[in-house]
Amino acid sequence: MKLCPLWLSLVLVGWTGGDLPAWLGKQSEVSWNKLIANISPRDAAKGTVVAAQSRSKPDYYYHWTRDAGLVMDVLRQKYEGSSDAEFRRNILEKFDDYVALSSKHQSQNSMSGPAWGMGMAEPKYFVDGRPFDGPWGRPQTDGPAIRATTLIQMANVLADGGISRRWYDSQMPSYSVIKADLEFTAANWKQPSFDLWEEVLGDHFYTRMVQRKSLLLGGKLATKSGDHGAAKYYLEQAREIEKTLEEFWNPQDRLLEVSRNELSGISYKDSRMDAAVVLAALHGSLDDGFFAPWDSRVLVSLARIADVFKDIYSINRSLVDRQGNYLAAAIGRYPEDKYDGQDSQDEANPWFLTTAGFAEALYVTLEHWKKVEVIDVDENLVEFLLLLCPDFQPNCLDGKKQVLKSDPLFALIEKMLLKKADGFLNRVRMHAGATGALSEQFNRYSGKQRGASELTWSHAALLTAQMARVRASGD
Ligand code: NOJ
Ligand code: NOJ
Repeated sequence: MKLCPLWLSLVLVGWTGGDLPAWLGKQSEVSWNKLIANISPRDAAKGTVVAAQSRSKPDYYYHWTRDAGLVMDVLRQKYEGSSDAEFRRNILEKFDDYVALSSKHQSQNSMSGPAWGMGMAEPKYFVDGRPFDGPWGRPQTDGPAIRATTLIQMANVLADGGISRRWYDSQMPSYSVIKADLEFTAANWKQPSFDLWEEVLGDHFYTRMVQRKSLLLGGKLATKSGDHGAAKYYLEQAREIEKTLEEFWNPQDRLLEVSRNELSGISYKDSRMDAAVVLAALHGSLDDGFFAPWDSRVLVSLARIADVFKDIYSINRSLVDRQGNYLAAAIGRYPEDKYDGQDSQDEANPWFLTTAGFAEALYVTLEHWKKVEVIDVDENLVEFLLLLCPDFQPNCLDGKKQVLKSDPLFALIEKMLLKKADGFLNRVRMHAGATGALSEQFNRYSGKQRGASELTWSHAALLTAQMARVRASGD
């Protein structure tokens, strides 16, 4: 037992990330340009964020409320990180277009329901701004919440007085974009919704997490705007959502489950495992730590899911790339997935945005541990380390409730996780190819890109993972 830290350091000595940071630097420029190219393309209404430019097999030439909100949040982060006035003006202009288009979306009846009500939960829009009118998995109530969160966070950056009444006003009924989304979310979060993968109607961990976040941020914004009644309402609803979120934790299996009370849609997700819980922690958590990436229930779920995918995709048999860089498992949506990325149900593949998301969740965890200077240990955390890091010796942690920064084990665990996180990004890198293209999926046998090419969300996920890596490791 006394020897174990030494043993670990022997195993891990020299882990620096190799040339991954250099690649990420280049790739993030490529990804940024490709992401920007998918905002307001020539024949689309201004403010449209197409999911991809692909118009057949699959046809992704639509504005999905969810994808768009997540993509615009990357613009918000880049705005925050820049002091270049011209660059910032450019981004602000895109936000103005996005707000105007969102308002148009909110104001139309759709197959999901009436304008300013359930109609806003329409998952996708034609590029001219009309709601999609074919059969689809609807409603999807995560969209308005994600949009509200993105806009509130941007409003907070723009600070006092930076936003117009088109963004937020306290009137009721409100026709301002943020308030309409918040009122919608507060009133409808209990309604059954299709999940983010658009396949199951029921209650979903991902959807509820992003709803809670929007209402907590919305409560603060309402307070700042003197809208006290609304602030109280949003916060109350957020607390109610929290209680229902606890129910997704399955203590017997030590797994966060993704859906409950399923009413319709596909019914073959027998393993109950789904990468969406990790995305939920990334997109739906706040500094308060509630189901944040570093919550040991999220971490153990992440490790379990990674473990299952390791055996499903044959490309995961290789553990190093051609340059000798360590590769972690490529991650799909969920093990039983059949969506092959081209409008047919066959055999699904790993996805870039989930693989990058697993890396990001680990970087965010590292960043958190650096900040608080302590790792809380419970049985979920031990199992997480065991599953994810074969080098890990559990007896190192015997009896410990916490690992303090002064303990040599702290740095070793950090190193081990950094290596793992980098392994996920090395996997992305291996399949990104020489041009830095990122489609939706990559073939589970050959590793070749599949499905919508240059998926906007794939590039967004690469960028947020890269930014998280910089925050966690300094390079
Ligand atoms: C398109 C959806 O976007 C995708 O998530 C789903 O798996 C397929 N349709 C198949 O239903
Ligand atoms: C299918 C994914 O399942 C869904 O989450 C996404 O919104 C659409 N593709 C568009 O990218």
